[in-house]
Amino acid sequence: MKIAGATVVVTGGARRIGKHISLGLAQRGANVVVNYQSSATEAHEVVEACVNMGTGALAVQADISSKLGVEAVRDAAISKFGGVDCLINNASIYPNTPLDELTEDDFDRNIAVNLKGPYLGCWLFGLHMRERGHGKIVNITDWGVNRPYTNYAPYFVAKGGIVTLTKVFAKELAPTVMVNAIAPGPILMPDDFSTSTVAAVAQATPLRRIGDPEDLLQTTLYLLEGTDFVTGAVIPVDGGRTIS
Ligand SMILES: NC(=O)c1ccc[n+]([C@@H]2O[C@H](COP(=O)([O-])OP(=O)(O)OC[C@H]3O[C@@H](n4cnc5c(N)ncnc54)[C@H](OP(=O)(O)O)[C@@H]3O)[C@@H](O)[C@H]2O)c1
Repeated sequence: MKIAGATVVVTGGARRIGKHISLGLAQRGANVVVNYQSSATEAHEVVEACVNMGTGALAVQADISSKLGVEAVRDAAISKFGGVDCLINNASIYPNTPLDELTEDDFDRNIAVNLKGPYLGCWLFGLHMRERGHGKIVNITDWGVNRPYTNYAPYFVAKGGIVTLTKVFAKELAPTVMVNAIAPGPILMPDDFSTSTVAAVAQATPLRRIGDPEDLLQTTLYLLEGTDFVTGAVIPVDGGRTIS
């Protein structure tokens, strides 16, 4: 699939990794739909930057953990650009949830945003893409679903579901729509991580460094434009973290 002229929806596309992917896609000529939940200013700045690069762009506020929210993003994208070619299921939460302080709500929130959101995206955008005769969906999971560390139990349970979700929808939507996932390692640390924690994470990574959002953009570009013969795959982009 050619990215230039395609319409790509990026959930959580206003900040951090989502922002880098949104801008990278715009740079290659895609129309970008930047979904956000609370970062309105940042979303509109990303849209402005995309438009300044000469592409179409739209910011859509919506909570992707509800069917209504995902339909709102899909319908706004269709109404502005005529259809959606690609979806990047990037939006996520990453709350620290130590075992001794867990609440039932921790589970519900993580499942809602980190698993139900991408599920709704695969389902509702997937049907739209199938009807149009083509499409690509990229889900974002986490290297840690294979080797989980402590204090993030509901996050990893939800992110683990994305691996199955990816294979399920790859099969359901074949041969028309390709569905794959990226499993990032340490790329952008949470703001509250100390310098020593970040150094320890780098030390525990075989390539001895933290990755860069560009690594995820390049993998996304590969899945969208570099091949039309990969579906149901989960690609680690983790500096070797999974094998450490
Ligand atoms: N950062 C890393 O090193 C790393 C490592 C492994 C995996 N990942 C995965 O890579 C992806 C991007 O990571 P990140 O660190 O850039 O993510 P992030 O900063 O934690 O979150 C990205 C965006 O998700 C949006 N979001 C949260 N809940 C939402 C909802 N209910 N509806 C719509 N949007 C919602 C937020 O939008 P608003 O700001 O508008 O509220 C936020 O800006 C995530 O899927 C993450 O799990 C990241």
